[in-house]
Amino acid sequence: MKLTILVVSLLVAAGAIAVAEEYSEFIEGMKTTGAAMGVLSKAEKKSGPQVTRSAERIAGVYEGMIPFFRQRDAKDAVALAEQGKAAATALASASFAGDEAKANEALQALGGTCKGCHAAHREKLENGKYKIK
Ligand code: HEC
Repeated sequence: MKLTILVVSLLVAAGAIAVAEEYSEFIEGMKTTGAAMGVLSKAEKKSGPQVTRSAERIAGVYEGMIPFFRQRDAKDAVALAEQGKAAATALASASFAGDEAKANEALQALGGTCKGCHAAHREKLENGKYKIK
């Protein structure tokens, strides 16, 4: 009896870990993106090494999101990831070149992809946590 309970709880725990690990890399990428986006919105001028680096970091995360959502067969998310990658790359280039107007435009476009994808693919659970839908 005790053994059965132990086995069952081990299986449940293993299942929970499997779900968490299924996309832990994705969550890490979102955390990186959130932090980098914080730096970008706080930056007084949308140019300079820090802005360029943050934009490059986001572009890298978005690049990884493309295959991730392709494997989930989520076409709209793939499109947002592609648009966001292009916007983040444009932001990095504009920041590097010191072109504030272009950089601001690219940042706006990038920000739009966060909201779009979260609205469509981020589901809030009853416990206050989120999952991908
Ligand atoms: C193509 C889809 C997509 C795009 C684009 C996207 N996100 Fe997300 N993001 C998600 C999903 C889905 C989750 C929820 C994952 C979960 O909690 O299971 C999430 C979660 C997050 C989280 C919470 C991570 C945690 O600690 O659990 C942050 C922060 C975040 N996103 C920031 C951003 C920012 C900032 C942008 C834009 C620069 C962005 N995301 C763009 C899909 C996306």
